[in-house]
Amino acid sequence: MSLIAALDPPEGVDGVGWCVNLISSLGNVPKGFKVGLPLVVREGVRGLKDVVSVMSAELVIADLKLADIGYVMSLVTKAVASAGVNTVIAHAFVGTEGALSELSRTCSELGIKLVLVAFMSHPGAGRVMKKAFSDLLSIVKEVGAWGAVLPATMPEVVRAGREYLGSSVKIMAPGVGAQGAEPGDALCAGADYEIVGRLITRAEDPLKAAVEVVRKQGERVRECRGL
Ligand code: XMP
Repeated sequence: MSLIAALDPPEGVDGVGWCVNLISSLGNVPKGFKVGLPLVVREGVRGLKDVVSVMSAELVIADLKLADIGYVMSLVTKAVASAGVNTVIAHAFVGTEGALSELSRTCSELGIKLVLVAFMSHPGAGRVMKKAFSDLLSIVKEVGAWGAVLPATMPEVVRAGREYLGSSVKIMAPGVGAQGAEPGDALCAGADYEIVGRLITRAEDPLKAAVEVVRKQGERVRECRGL
């Protein structure tokens, strides 16, 4: 169970209804659901709460890619925690003092898992993040984050992250499907979860697409581990 479904409602739909329909269609196939700005900007924390209330998955992730001073990131985290979210994503690049150390404290107090973006999945990510990668990873460690986001589109980056972070930090990897990575690529490189959005949510039959992703993940992992 290594699939996290990313629910980003497209334009022109009722964001809450769209997410609720997908959550009920996908059942317990995903280990977690990730929602972000496309839902929260349109529907607010009240809408987020309505969406979260129908989730029974283990991971309920607010991906707002927080990148601010600690005080502001903590305020936002308290707001999404009040909607029932149990995991938040922030950027590692903002650093520790005055930023992530405060957010990390807030997360501990609230029982929220903190996940930090250490490298993004889109082609332009390397321009800045490649130079900063070792610093970003050391920030993940220093903050004691529960997890890190590393790109499924660059398995070598996932591999390097796993080597540096060891086995105690969870790695979530977006970029499967619409951004080009194949299911299982990142798992073979050391990720714990693959985040998949449009490949599932835009499919004619989202449940069938999710089941197929999980099947392919299993097949690829057995192959790369020689099982
Ligand atoms: P698709 O539709 O491309 O959606 O499968 C991917 C989902 O993952 C998010 N995303 C990222 N999140 N770091 C992150 O923290 C990344 O590098 C990254 N790349 C994609 C995106 O917001 C969408 O929900």
